[in-house]
Parts: sequence; C-alpha cells; structure tokens
Amino acid sequence: MWKAVVTAAVAFALLLCQSSSLDNGLARTPPMGWLAWERFRCNVDCVDDPYNCISERLFMQMADRLAEDGWKELGYNYINIDDCWMSMDRDEQGNLYANKTRFPNGIKKLADYVHSKGLKLGIYLDFGTHTCGGYPGSIKYLQKDAETIAGWGIDMLKMDGCYANVSDMSWGYPDMEMYMNKTGRPILFSCSWPAYAGGIKVDYSVLGKHCNAWRNYDDIQDSWDSVTHIIDWFGDNQDVLAPAAGPGHWNDPDMLIVGDYSLSYEESKAQMAMWAILAAPLFMSNDLRSISPEARTILMNKEVIRISQDSLGMQGRRVIKGDNKIEVWLRDIEYSSYGIAFLNRRTDGMPYNFTLTLQDLNFTYLKGYHLDDLYSGQPLGHFELNRNLTVSMAPNGVVLIYAYPSE
Ligand code: GLA
Repeated sequence: MWKAVVTAAVAFALLLCQSSSLDNGLARTPPMGWLAWERFRCNVDCVDDPYNCISERLFMQMADRLAEDGWKELGYNYINIDDCWMSMDRDEQGNLYANKTRFPNGIKKLADYVHSKGLKLGIYLDFGTHTCGGYPGSIKYLQKDAETIAGWGIDMLKMDGCYANVSDMSWGYPDMEMYMNKTGRPILFSCSWPAYAGGIKVDYSVLGKHCNAWRNYDDIQDSWDSVTHIIDWFGDNQDVLAPAAGPGHWNDPDMLIVGDYSLSYEESKAQMAMWAILAAPLFMSNDLRSISPEARTILMNKEVIRISQDSLGMQGRRVIKGDNKIEVWLRDIEYSSYGIAFLNRRTDGMPYNFTLTLQDLNFTYLKGYHLDDLYSGQPLGHFELNRNLTVSMAPNGVVLIYAYPSE
C-alpha cells in the first residue's frame, strides 16, 4: 500500500516539475556559446572596419573558431547574432530580411554554414516596435517572424524588450513561444522580459513555462565594476532568483567578457567561476580570432565547466558576506557535492587568507569531504567537518573549490 502511495506521490511531483517549465527539451543545462553584442555592438561600418562589422563574415569566422579551436567539444555550441543584422524595413509581404550588404547570402545560408560546422545559430528580435538599435520590431508580426526564423533554421532566439510596454509582455512572450512551438522547430527561447520589468517584479514561475533563459538585469559592460554590480544584484535577490532556475529555464546575468579589454587575469577567473556557480548561460562575447592563451585557458577549464553544467541545475547562493569583503558562494551539485567560490572583493594589494570549516557552511556528511582547487588543479585533501580550511585569494580574485563526500 505505502509503495503505491509513494509511487503516486513521485508521479505527482514529476508532473508538477514538468508542468512548471517550458517543455521543448532544450537547455537542460545552461546553454553555452558565443554572442556578438558586448564585444562587437552595432558596428555596421563594413567599409572602414570590414573585419569587425556585424556581417555574415564575422559570424562565419567565429563559427570557424568555435568549431576548430576546441570550443565546441567543451559545449560552446551556439553562435548568436545580436542586434543590427536586419534591413531597416520589412519586405512587401512584411517579412524580415537581413541587411543585404552585410549579409549578402542571407541568414538561411549562414545557418547552413553554422550547421555544417556542427554548431547552432541564434538570432535576435525585439518584442516591441523597434529593436534597441532602431531596427524593425516584432510586436505586430510575432507569428510571421517565428515562421521566418524557423524557416531559416534558427536554433535560438533572444527576444529583447525595447520600445514595448511591459504590460504587453505577459501576453507577448508567451505568444511568441506558442508560435515558435507551432513551427515544429525546437528553438531555445531567451526572453528579456524580466530585465524590462524591474528584475524581480515578474512571476518567475510563469517565465519558466515560456522561456528557456531570461536576462534579469543590466547589460554587462567591459569592466570589473559591471561584473561585480551584476554579482551583487544576483546575491541580493537570490531568494527570488535561485528558485526560478533549473533544467530548461535559467537566469541570465549576461555575457562572459573574459578575453576582452578590461578584466585582469584574476578578475577573469572570478567572472568564469561566479557564472558557473550561478548556473548562468555561458555566452562569451570576445574576439575568438585573437583571444589570449590566458583567457582561453580560463574559459576552457573543464572542471569549472563541469560545475556550470551540473545536471541538478541548482543555482548557487551567497552564503557568507563578511565585513572583511570576502564572500562565500555555494552551489549544490550532483552526488551531494558542492561548488564553493571564495570571492575576494578587497583591493588592498596583497593576497588575503580566509579560514573556515565545512561545518560553518552547514555541510553534513560526518566523515567529511575531499576538496579540489579547480583553478590550481591541486587536490586540497580530506576535510573533516571541523578541520580548518584556509584559502588565499588575490585581490579581486576567486578560489573555486569542488567538494565531494569522502571517507
Ligand atoms: C539591449 C540588450 C543587449 C543588446 C542590445 C542590442 O540593451 O540588453 O543585450 O541586445 O539591446 O541593442
């Protein structure tokens, strides 16, 4: 009898889980790839700057790099177009089309090329009357645009929310999801809805039913200030945000800027570690044609990616925020294990030592845990719950640890 009750309870719980998230089978772990915006913006000057302008050539070159330089094998498999790809007008039938000078072969050909490399192509639309860059918006053309991008073979859509009323988004984003489903093509749907609705003033259970990921907050810029501003916001609002994340539906703190101009080596490691702890989509926005070996090593760290891509899909939380400007972030991962990020917000010049025990983090396995430092690649050894663990963090630096139960 009790078995039947348990089985029924489990079936009911599974049903609840299923009905609470978008069921297109995509993004079971946070999606990974490359996105043009932060690094290449709305550079449409292909006359004076042909190498960097938003054009099919740029996306083909980045696709080559993703496919040939080892990124794809690590999971970075989406190559995503952002704003400024369109012609300024729709055609006579109201269809969107790409700027003919910069994308002379059109998006379908670009998608074929990207697919031939074993990658997926993402594109950008805006729910409102115009994109943020002033190109045609989709508000009156949702079904048409869903059919257009599906016909081109698009695999992911970022739908922005400039020039729209936030109150319209509660029907607009679900409608777009419905029209994309109707096309029969699985398209990963990234919604910017919460970013326009004040970040935490949206019903995240509704979002999870319609979107695979969503931008919650401000655009990332090329600075450590911007990275920490976003990290702080995610920490301050974690009670709302963390429960909203899970397989198929993710909070998106915006792109990885590792490999760009501003972050130091330590700051770069910190952004990558924190995005892994936050179960964030990992979209690099950098120049893969000239990225430094250091940045490449950080972005390609398999152990950090393993934390990011953990199958439980639980978003980590800030569990300690001390007066000493040290933060500890914890992510539950499979097999009763943890990712632990020690984030140093100090700028006083020398590495800072911080000591705690696993008991302080409420770890419960009485025999203790084995700890590995994922950036140094060194095992730290076995820690019983009351053994002191001392980590040394560089200014603006991180120590990322993987902890699993062991005897
Ligand atoms: C908004 C988005 C950015 C980018 C630009 C494009 O600012 O948040 O990520 O897509 O629009 O114009």
